[in-house]
Amino acid sequence: MKKKVVIIFGGRSYEHEVSINSAKSIMKYINKDKYEIKLIYIDKSGQWLLCNNINSLKNLVKLNDFKILDWCDVVFPVLHGNYGEDGKIQGLFDVLDVAYVGCNLKSSCNCMDKEICKVLLNDINIPETPYIVINKNNYDLNNTLNEIKEKIGYPCFIKPANSGSSIGINKIYHESEVNKFVIEAFKFDDKIIIEKYIRGREVEIGVLGNDDILVSNIGEIIAGDDFYSYDDKYNSNKSIVKVPVKLNKEIEGKIKKYAKKAYKKMECSGLSRIDFFIENSTNEIYLNEINTMPGFTNISMYPVLFEEIGIKNDILIDKLIDLGIKKHTDNN
Ligand SMILES: Nc1ncnc2c1ncn2[C@@H]1O[C@H](COP(=O)(O)OP(=O)(O)O)[C@@H](O)[C@H]1O
Ligand SMILES: [Mg+2]
Repeated sequence: MKKKVVIIFGGRSYEHEVSINSAKSIMKYINKDKYEIKLIYIDKSGQWLLCNNINSLKNLVKLNDFKILDWCDVVFPVLHGNYGEDGKIQGLFDVLDVAYVGCNLKSSCNCMDKEICKVLLNDINIPETPYIVINKNNYDLNNTLNEIKEKIGYPCFIKPANSGSSIGINKIYHESEVNKFVIEAFKFDDKIIIEKYIRGREVEIGVLGNDDILVSNIGEIIAGDDFYSYDDKYNSNKSIVKVPVKLNKEIEGKIKKYAKKAYKKMECSGLSRIDFFIENSTNEIYLNEINTMPGFTNISMYPVLFEEIGIKNDILIDKLIDLGIKKHTDNN
């Protein structure tokens, strides 16, 4: 008998379009002989709409309740950013007692928040870039400039604490730019972080599994812009994704070890893509972030990393679905 899968995509975050592309790719590769699939498109206002063709997004039927989730064996929330990757929708699935692909509420939420993630990973000695945190309700420019001077230096990165796809993120070269970009980042979150710039390589690794985990080889991003901005990620075609990348054995070993440790500490399940910097002059490794629902287009790093070790897209999707169902069964 075919397993029943509901794929949810779109969503209320700024990564709405990215999610549509990820879901299109999953629809292209998912084995239709194995699964009966229904698609739910969440529009930008948060309405749930039943969709019969992911390529047209027309003739959508509004859903007034969550009954469709009773129908399925598992939900695949192909959602990035707020409301999809931050634990909120995972909480809904838990309340409704539905199996789903990927990390649970707590893990999604803790990985999404760049400050909380750093605090938890510092606790197990995984190196993090030096940073400061600023809350909107007590932001003071002079204090911030002093803190940057003492702890961070220039250039530095200003980021919303909870965002993705580089939205609201800027690289700052001089103190005269700080206020403008702090205000810009506050448009996306009431909490922001300011981070020391790491001059180095940007590498990423895929992790797959619940209790037993598999790590991929390591891929590298070579940004086309000054940094890996939204435009660089999705529009400009100037950035390069290299899989696998040759690193010295010691660095490769450390990244794989940190990735596994971080995945366990953050209580991830299903999947995550974990991103690191390797500083040029010292070869120091820093964990940058954990993406609990990484981009899934056919050129995205996560599926490409697994393809490189022999796990093709359709098999990867099977594994993710099985892991989601297994996690639900184990918890019940
Ligand atoms: N501390 C840093 N040093 C150097 N580059 C950085 C730093 N922080 C972010 N970047 C650049 O900005 C990009 C986006 O930052 P990231 O923290 O990954 O945010 P997002 O969650 O939006 O992907 C990174 O891919 C990298 O190119
Ligand atoms: Mg990133």
